[in-house]
Amino acid sequence: IPAENIRNFSIIAHIDHGKSTLADRLLELTNTISTRQGNKQVLDKLKVERERGITVKAQTVSMFYDYKGKQYLLNLIDTPGHVDFSYEVSRSLAACQGALLLVDAAQGIQAQTVANFYLAFGEGLSIIPVLNKIDLPGSEPERVAKQLEGAFELDCDNILQISAKSRINIESILPAVIERIPSPQGSMDRPLRALLFDSWYDKYVGVVCMVGVIDGVLRKGDKVLSAYSDTKYDVLEVGIMHPEQVATGYIHAGQVGYVVCGMKSASEAHIGDTISHLNTKVEPLAGFQPAQSKVFAGIFPVDTNDFRKLDDNIKKLTLNDASVTVHKETSNALGQGWRLGFLGTLHMDVFRQRLENEYDANIIVTQPTVPYRVVFKKNKETQIIRNPTDFPDGEERSLKVNRLEEPMVLATMIFPEEYMGKMIELCGSRRGIQRDYVYLDDQRVMMKYVLPLAEVVQDFYDELKSRSSGYASFDYEDHGYEESDLVKMSVLLNGKPVDALSVILHRTQVEEVGRDWVKRLKSVIQKQLFDVVIQTAIGGRIIARETVSALRKDVTAKLYGGDVTRKMKLLQKQKAGKKRMKLIGTVELDQKVFYNFMEKK
Ligand code: GTP
Repeated sequence: IPAENIRNFSIIAHIDHGKSTLADRLLELTNTISTRQGNKQVLDKLKVERERGITVKAQTVSMFYDYKGKQYLLNLIDTPGHVDFSYEVSRSLAACQGALLLVDAAQGIQAQTVANFYLAFGEGLSIIPVLNKIDLPGSEPERVAKQLEGAFELDCDNILQISAKSRINIESILPAVIERIPSPQGSMDRPLRALLFDSWYDKYVGVVCMVGVIDGVLRKGDKVLSAYSDTKYDVLEVGIMHPEQVATGYIHAGQVGYVVCGMKSASEAHIGDTISHLNTKVEPLAGFQPAQSKVFAGIFPVDTNDFRKLDDNIKKLTLNDASVTVHKETSNALGQGWRLGFLGTLHMDVFRQRLENEYDANIIVTQPTVPYRVVFKKNKETQIIRNPTDFPDGEERSLKVNRLEEPMVLATMIFPEEYMGKMIELCGSRRGIQRDYVYLDDQRVMMKYVLPLAEVVQDFYDELKSRSSGYASFDYEDHGYEESDLVKMSVLLNGKPVDALSVILHRTQVEEVGRDWVKRLKSVIQKQLFDVVIQTAIGGRIIARETVSALRKDVTAKLYGGDVTRKMKLLQKQKAGKKRMKLIGTVELDQKVFYNFMEKK
């Protein structure tokens, strides 16, 4: 198929505006899948994704479509649906020439509509606005079209109006794609350059990469090179997704397809990398950045006997997700575990849920922390802190540290006007600084705030939703580092620090968090034969204190007296329980204590 008969496009939308439903309709319409299969939503493969109703891994499909006597190859490139994955979204979009901007005609523009629009706009794509869900009684297509014109200066005179679910006007989409999106401009005669924009792990063949061929031809048997890692590979198989893998032997400029080249783990497939032929000199494609972890957390087995099993399972999961970083970690309280880095909190939640669901793992996840930056006095050297344990404290801090900085984000929130007061209050309480607000129409407001990332990764999103009765939508982008008055708060049990419970806070939050933590710890720590003093402290200064008073002797006596078999049973149970016990100084704690503490917020 000549390049002028190819179109590469994406559907970009806010969550739940109907992207997967529309994608399925297009697959049906082009007979890529049967109508019956379509009900399963082919594009959302993974179970967790379906459960949470979000698309995490991009799925791309090639469709054939006859239009005005010519056959077209239409490549629908799916993008991940969440803010954590905006770098992946932008790389997927870089493989397209156009995008359908799908907006729910009842809900109107939402925060991810705005974010995705600007990503697509930034890539120079032709954008076709489409209003979905016009079958809903509450839909207001005219009004939403006005919002789109106002916010993005899009021409919405003959905007497409569809219902993906009820199959209204679905047939108007593909002609618009062909007429309004340009064909890819690369050349088959130039040396090969392919953009790697997605990958996944297949247990039979290893890593499968999705690439957009910009120039040249990629054939089975070729020897290729990764521009980023300078590693050589042999192309074992190439083909297109239709909708499953169909080997074609080659793919050429303008096409999008998959490549298997013997990569062993997803960490070799760098999103945004340029693939070229060995021994040809090409300019790598612009915009490559290695994935950056934004949120770190320690993960530990509840039962230390599960360590090996968990280690295996984490390896399996990260085989498929190169954006998770893994380092071994040892804690005095929780034993051996890992410090994992994620692109954001949703990414972390999905990973955790997979570990728990697919591998049935019993784990403790510590308080998430963001990458803080320490600037030292000596030569203004900097260090990124991923674990509160490494945070400079006391003398080290006063002697060596010039300043401390925290990562910031620029947040976009869209909500009905009546929630303005509550939203300003929320952002204010999270150390936010207002940057801007505009009315999208006479009822909807778009507000921008600069917020510390640390505040956003806690429960900001849940708060936003609950304070706006679910009406506010939210998205954010990086906004660099800012100097901040940060301190490390430690938790002490009878004077001994519990490393896994250290946390980095802004100085203004210390009192509140310190008091809250000792109370919560008191409620989960079991009584011992002596008093347990729980304290929170900064450096040497105690912030708050609670005491778990000692167990009274006669209570134990009663418990273990009497029936011999019952006593044996109890002793057995105690033995099994011992495995999970941790000693902090003289205080004996069940790992479950930490689990309960982390879960109860
Ligand atoms: P994410 O994968 O979370 O980004 O969602 P999505 O944008 O892919 O949305 P999805 O296709 O899963 O649709 C979300 C919900 O809207 C589902 O319950 C659909 O059945 C429903 N929906 C999609 N299109 C229409 C439509 O045209 N009309 C109505 N009434 N409902 C629709």
